[in-house]
Amino acid sequence: MIGYSESLGRRFESYRAHHFLFGKPIAMPIRSWMIYGANGYSAQLIAERARERGLTPILAGRNPDKTRAIAERLGFDWRAFSLDDPQVIAESLNDIDAVIHCAGPFSATSAPMIDACLRARTHYFDITGEIPVFEHAHSEQIDAAAKEAGIVICPGVGFDVVPTDCLAKALIEALPDASHLDLGFHGSMSVSPGTAKTIVENLGYGTFARRNGVVVNIPLEIREVDYGKGPRQSMSVSWGDVSTAFYTTGIENITVYWPANDAMIRQFRFLRLLHPLLRLRSVQNFIKSQIEKKVEGPSPQKRDQQHVHVWGEARNATGKTVSARIITANGYTVTQLAPVAIVEHLLQHQVIAGSMTPALLMGKDFASRLDGSSEITETELRNSG
Ligand SMILES: NC(=O)c1ccc[n+]([C@@H]2O[C@H](COP(=O)([O-])OP(=O)(O)OC[C@H]3O[C@@H](n4cnc5c(N)ncnc54)[C@H](OP(=O)(O)O)[C@@H]3O)[C@@H](O)[C@H]2O)c1
Repeated sequence: MIGYSESLGRRFESYRAHHFLFGKPIAMPIRSWMIYGANGYSAQLIAERARERGLTPILAGRNPDKTRAIAERLGFDWRAFSLDDPQVIAESLNDIDAVIHCAGPFSATSAPMIDACLRARTHYFDITGEIPVFEHAHSEQIDAAAKEAGIVICPGVGFDVVPTDCLAKALIEALPDASHLDLGFHGSMSVSPGTAKTIVENLGYGTFARRNGVVVNIPLEIREVDYGKGPRQSMSVSWGDVSTAFYTTGIENITVYWPANDAMIRQFRFLRLLHPLLRLRSVQNFIKSQIEKKVEGPSPQKRDQQHVHVWGEARNATGKTVSARIITANGYTVTQLAPVAIVEHLLQHQVIAGSMTPALLMGKDFASRLDGSSEITETELRNSG
């Protein structure tokens, strides 16, 4: 294994080759990339897509046997390392230009990987949807360090948040003085093991939204949303855009919604009484162990059948409102396609370094360019003020 100082020396030479354009640090196209957490449900989908596209990622994970099995199945190189020590991770990334980090829940895995990516000057992408993980990745400190290192830090390149982030960007372009942004999506979606564990981690904390620029805990909010087939009662949920849409648009008030009938709303309100219990590590570990035994993630047939209707609405201080929609493939299909599309972009293009959202990096039409997605179809303007 190459030592850390040797790795830094080699990387520094490559860093000096980075261009600076209009005062913004620009990273050169990548050559090598890695999928970490490779034996997980989503990582395998991403690796399979990479193979379909003729790409050759190095697969990695903490378990050598599981990682080797996936790599041998797909014909890729592999390596095993844990995420306990950022310096060891950095050494394992010394010859890697970009990592697609898929080992979640990311509450435990994102910070050490970002730290290592900054040391190794490796672009960082992940498929998180966790608000605190986004807030860390978009902090001034990480953004400045990423610019200094000449790398992109871009969490959330899965379904959470690619399509909603693209809608948010489209909406701020249509209504530049928007002060409020509501986003939402509708579609029956079976979940993967990692998603189920992440949901469990958040069950005890209620709903978060952004108010006056700050991420805050809010009482459940209910509104009607037309995802494309008429109005549906919907409730607020803690989706990643509460963090990321702020960095994409600058809009200071952001809420995300899911459709919910009266029974669901009653259950969520009842759940508040159980929050202290649901936060207990022993309770979380028990539920997570049941998930490991029982949750497998959607089959290819289910993924092919389930589309998602995504909606967004921005309004300004005078009550002017713009709304937009997009239909996407199943969430896990979007999570499979988007990271590989980003890698293909990075293999050919220079990008601006720093903390990025998917829509800032790839443009508002990124989600529409993914197989199975529509254009951003409907943008209506009305004045409700
Ligand atoms: N943005 C989105 O829309 C989206 C979509 C899909 C998934 N996700 C998120 O992606 C994550 C993965 O979900 P999944 O269902 O695909 O995964 P999964 O099948 O549960 O597999 C998780 C992977 O992460 C590894 N891992 C977990 N904790 C780790 C740690 N502390 N150190 C090193 N490796 C660790 C596991 O390794 P072992 O096998 O060794 O345990 C495994 O390789 C979840 O957080 C999920 O919420 C997001």
